[in-house]
Amino acid sequence: MKIPRLLQAVVVIAGVYFGFLIVFDYLLGAVIPKSLLTMYMFFVAAGVFMVFTYDEEKTRELVAPVKALVEDPAKRGARNLVFTLIPLLIGYSVYSQLQPGFEAPVELRTIHPAPPSTAKIYGKRVNLLSLENPFRKVEKEDPEKFAALVSDGAAVYIKNCQYCHGDKLDGKGPYAEGLNPTPLNFQDIGTIAQLQESYLFWRITTGGPGLPKEAAPWISSMPVWQNFLSEEEIWKVILFLYDYTGHRPRSWEH
Ligand code: HEC
Repeated sequence: MKIPRLLQAVVVIAGVYFGFLIVFDYLLGAVIPKSLLTMYMFFVAAGVFMVFTYDEEKTRELVAPVKALVEDPAKRGARNLVFTLIPLLIGYSVYSQLQPGFEAPVELRTIHPAPPSTAKIYGKRVNLLSLENPFRKVEKEDPEKFAALVSDGAAVYIKNCQYCHGDKLDGKGPYAEGLNPTPLNFQDIGTIAQLQESYLFWRITTGGPGLPKEAAPWISSMPVWQNFLSEEEIWKVILFLYDYTGHRPRSWEH
């Protein structure tokens, strides 16, 4: 028996579609993005259409079942069914796309907004571009004294910061679950390893309320530490953050 050409075309397109799914999902274990699959299938369908309408006779053969469905008086029942089902299916697909989702809307928040060049910290105007950690030079000059400064910083951290940023500095403190945005994970190379110490000083002293416009919405729970800690304590806790995580602060290239 000869397979109708329309059915052949459908089988080829469906075969390619499931072929993609089998090769990617089962053999390669990599899910193919839906948008990419849609694009591939568009080209596959266009290719199949070109081959199947190569000449007039083939085209006539391809559309024959459609023509018969629309024109043949004997196919009245099938016709009514198809012309009822198609609008219903389209209606359903539109309806299902309009269903409200239950996920929280995505909030695009700048995690590391550009710092202002100067900021008011401890009542003084500080130039953040030239500000340096006054204790950083001790690291080379006197390693023993430096170790003592780091351990002072550790004490400041455990007393004040670990509730949110975690005792392993991984952002998983006991309060972290309840906060959005979540406290940052200093172990991650996306946080302090990318930043200068002056940036940390600015963020720690001014906290969530000190964030500039781009960092909206201003819902960060990061406290304004200049109200609770001394300048020295903050520089020491910064030493501790880098020492514990093994990251180096970023610095200007010389
Ligand atoms: C009440 C919870 C809370 C406490 C306590 C807290 N933080 Fe945070 N911190 C946050 C949250 C939330 C963020 C992320 C949102 C933001 O950037 O403001 C953050 C961000 C930061 C950042 C910015 C890091 C980056 O990559 O931009 C630094 C640095 C920081 N905290 C240091 C500290 C230090 C040091 C302490 C202790 C003196 C501390 N935090 C205490 C909640 C807290």
